[in-house]
Amino acid sequence: MNLPDYKEARKREKKDYKVVNYEIDKKLIHKFCGKTYFLKTYGCQMNEHDSENIAAMLESLGFKRVDNYMDADLALLNTCSIRENAHNKAFGMLGRLKHVKENLKKDLVVGICGCMAQESGVVEDILNHYQFVNFVFGTHNINELPQIVFDAMKKEEQIIEVYSKEGDLMEEMPVKRDHPHKAYVNIIYGCDKFCTYCIVPFTRGRERSRRKEDILKEVEDLVKEGYQEVTLLGQNVNAYGKDIYQDYGLGELLEEVSKTNIHRIRFMTSHPWDFSDSMIEKIAKYENIMPHIHLPIQSGSSRILKKMGRRYTKEEYLTLFHKIKKTIPNVSISTDIIVGFPGEEEEDFLETLDICKYCQFDNAFTFIFSKRENTPAAKLKDTTTKEEKEERLQRLNEVVNHYFLENNKKLVGKTVEVLTEGVSNKPGMYYGYTDTNKLINFTGEGIKVGDMIKVEVTDAKTWSLDGCAKVVTKSR
Ligand code: 5AD
Ligand code: SF4
Repeated sequence: MNLPDYKEARKREKKDYKVVNYEIDKKLIHKFCGKTYFLKTYGCQMNEHDSENIAAMLESLGFKRVDNYMDADLALLNTCSIRENAHNKAFGMLGRLKHVKENLKKDLVVGICGCMAQESGVVEDILNHYQFVNFVFGTHNINELPQIVFDAMKKEEQIIEVYSKEGDLMEEMPVKRDHPHKAYVNIIYGCDKFCTYCIVPFTRGRERSRRKEDILKEVEDLVKEGYQEVTLLGQNVNAYGKDIYQDYGLGELLEEVSKTNIHRIRFMTSHPWDFSDSMIEKIAKYENIMPHIHLPIQSGSSRILKKMGRRYTKEEYLTLFHKIKKTIPNVSISTDIIVGFPGEEEEDFLETLDICKYCQFDNAFTFIFSKRENTPAAKLKDTTTKEEKEERLQRLNEVVNHYFLENNKKLVGKTVEVLTEGVSNKPGMYYGYTDTNKLINFTGEGIKVGDMIKVEVTDAKTWSLDGCAKVVTKSR
């Protein structure tokens, strides 16, 4: 048994790690033919992509996927710990699985992985109160899943295999992608920023970049397979390369990825701290790097930003914001904002409202501060009531929503390029995303999922656009 330990997870040792090519133990292949699995993913794109690896591994063991846990032999929850409600959702699901296992399907095998598995409190809870859970593994040893599942399918006792330290960096992990035309590509794992509210540096370990040649090969293969869009992923993509190269960062990587001729490149998430001029220039220069930047501000008050450990002031954020707007034509900028951080006074919150009115973000994900075990902010005195926090969130949402609509209205009558992602419920209607990452529903004929389409925008809503197709470029 290996249990998580926060003190260990906090340490940042500049020890070299090995890059290892993943290989499944041949003895385990097809061991579970005829068995089924249910996989539920919570949280961010990183978790979604991990689940794509997990699905591929389970399928090489012979499992087939089912959408309902009632039909499954194995149920696995890939969890998120960013805020309390993510926790609650996973525990709610665990409660349902407990009921199924105790009353309806005694031999259901239940597993937990992902960020919650890295939390010592959660694992203690599972050991003490959730004995029916068969196995737990963490974010650093997804590659061990085949052996863990093999053991869990035959053993009686609980298996807990969670490491607090990052292991080797795995290449060539099998992947079963959720989407046929767009793909996630990890470029950097972990985060060294230690914002005071955030649990990610504990659950995902230190920053470790993949080698550029491995990333480029993955994108080149995706192009050959007919993929149209890649999203380069990391908790902090702007730190790419700093741990392994002298003069090679995200700007240089974006340039090389651009030359693979993939139709569309996106990347997320960016921390304003590491956003270099070179990156901005490359995004402006290459047409296949999409003009959309997710740039979390978190607060408009420099006093609160300092308490959050964000390493920039309101003025520094605005300088970067202006540089991006000036250099990249038609860029859209989205953001994340937290209200009710410990010590946030009404004046601090008004500064957040002011900066939102000034920046007029194209999209914003807004959250109430959630106290995370062992983070520095968990020790700060909470100064607002639940009602005050909720009221601030509502006022904030009114302001940001207003600008989503205003920005969308500016596109009416214009032609935008869209990657068709699906057919909507109404006949003759499709949906996809513009280059600036806006959801658009549109009419058209003879369109297939994967087609790149020029669409005329006919109407604007707060969360989406309407349009009609003009020119269709067939998918590769
Ligand atoms: N409470 C509320 N929101 C949080 N986020 C991260 N940690 C917390 C927390 N403890 C938000 C930040 C981040 C986004 C992914 O989630 O805004 O950018
Ligand atoms: Fe949630 Fe963060 Fe883990 Fe993603 S990395 S699943 S957002 S805690």
